[in-house]
Amino acid sequence: MNATCPIGVFDSGIGGLTVASAIRRALPNESILYFGDTAHLPYGEKSADAIRYYCIRISQFLLDHDCKMIVLACNSASSAAYDILVDFFKNKSLFVNVVDPLVKLAQKKEYKKVGVIATKATISSNAYRSKLVAADPNKNVVQLATPLLVPMIEEGFYNDNISEQIIHKYLSDDSLQNLDALLLACTHYPLIRKHIEQYYKGKVDVIDSAEPVAVEVKRLLSEKALLNNSQKPVHRFFVSDYTRSFEETTKLFYPENISLEEVSIW
Ligand code: DGL
Repeated sequence: MNATCPIGVFDSGIGGLTVASAIRRALPNESILYFGDTAHLPYGEKSADAIRYYCIRISQFLLDHDCKMIVLACNSASSAAYDILVDFFKNKSLFVNVVDPLVKLAQKKEYKKVGVIATKATISSNAYRSKLVAADPNKNVVQLATPLLVPMIEEGFYNDNISEQIIHKYLSDDSLQNLDALLLACTHYPLIRKHIEQYYKGKVDVIDSAEPVAVEVKRLLSEKALLNNSQKPVHRFFVSDYTRSFEETTKLFYPENISLEEVSIW
């Protein structure tokens, strides 16, 4: 493992590209090796055991490609598998999840009531609530699974009447009233952040994990003297199941044209 090795970033599919994109902006010299487990998405509907099994295999693939760091760019994966990956691979790589940087950011503010929206897997793991409450037992943390949002965004409905109705339906849930902040605990949701902010008319802080994760990646690489300051970066994007439609959808999440490479790791 040395500074010129790539940063591995993985997700169940292509939503994690929002995180890859933020890492690229923060660290333009770093090479990124992205893996989208399109054969098994959505993770949000899977059991924790299934997600853990997929994550171990993907991490091994990224380690086989000499990744100096592995970023779990998926909340469902981070909630179910982060601790297991750190334990399983011990000192072989650095691991960064998307939950902790968002929780840290929310802790810094004096929010009394925090809402969390995410996939079913993330909500049922209780990862956000338990971490937020462990740091501040008086914090009121309310959670809502919002499973329609991922397919809605992937089908291109993220800035129109249909998405507006679905978003409003979820956000008007009784549990999500009188919030100080809403955490967008899914790597797809930055695409609908503006819509959500409009819904709250600036009265609620709406926070997603892409930028905070990029900051944490930079901090950790710097701490370990693994920042790549010299080389021209090379980015590669792997998927476990290629379809033209996945490649098309990457345009929603990443600012440049991407060629997806299919790889069989199962
Ligand atoms: N990217 C996943 C997450 O952040 C959502 C997509 C899925 O369910 O696989 O939880």
